[in-house]
Amino acid sequence: MAAGKIGTNLGDTVPDFKADSTQGRIEWHKFIEGSWAVLFSHPADYTPVCTTELGTVAAIIPEFEKRGVKVAALSCNDVKSHEGWVKDIEATSYSKGSPIAYPIIADPNRDIANQYKMVDPEEKNAAGLPMTCRAVFIIGPDKKLKLSLLYPATTGRNFPEILRAIDSLQLTVNHKVATPANWESGDKCMVLPTLTDDQATQNFGSFDVVDVPSEKRYMRLTADPTGATKGFMGQKCLMTLAGVASGALLGFVGGRVSNKS
Ligand code: BEZ
Repeated sequence: MAAGKIGTNLGDTVPDFKADSTQGRIEWHKFIEGSWAVLFSHPADYTPVCTTELGTVAAIIPEFEKRGVKVAALSCNDVKSHEGWVKDIEATSYSKGSPIAYPIIADPNRDIANQYKMVDPEEKNAAGLPMTCRAVFIIGPDKKLKLSLLYPATTGRNFPEILRAIDSLQLTVNHKVATPANWESGDKCMVLPTLTDDQATQNFGSFDVVDVPSEKRYMRLTADPTGATKGFMGQKCLMTLAGVASGALLGFVGGRVSNKS
């Protein structure tokens, strides 16, 4: 049984819910039990940017699996709408021929959207009802929220960033390091400021101190403590994503480009 405050602030146990999805009924806490998980929402089915996002996630599901992360999408549409839209998503180049092998949760009454504070009051559907923003919740195996992102409907998300953030979260939960700006798996890490130099030596063997005008020794760099080498997971991931991006740049939609203007 997960403990602590229930909510969507960092460190809270994320709210539980039961809902229908494209993969049947989901009991959220049972679904994520003991695993890392990502819950991400999109404004609406049959919208262009959302189609690129869900297709992109389908194409990189192996990257989530490699990291032991379960993925689920959500919007305020019903399962029938999701099922029809999935056929469109799978027909675009964004999914790279991959099926939508993760559940899309139906939240037509906005119960979950309200629980998770995903509703964007600025963005309304044709019926004047608010839609969900592009939220991302990264949840740890303890069911606690580790990271959240909120994007408006007009800005599609960067999924390499989400994988990169998962790499950082999974590294820093086990090692006394923090990851610097633009860090990727295999890059040097910062020794936690709470560690003395002696503790840093005990933990990592060696580290480098960055010279700064204040002469304070707070920027201490050490090798990625997992022994990962730069570019291994990242490069594979980038290759997958480069394929997705190049398909997108070529402008293929289901292998064809149609100009109906
Ligand atoms: C889209 O997915 O393209 C989208 C959805 C809602 C508002 C704006 C864009």
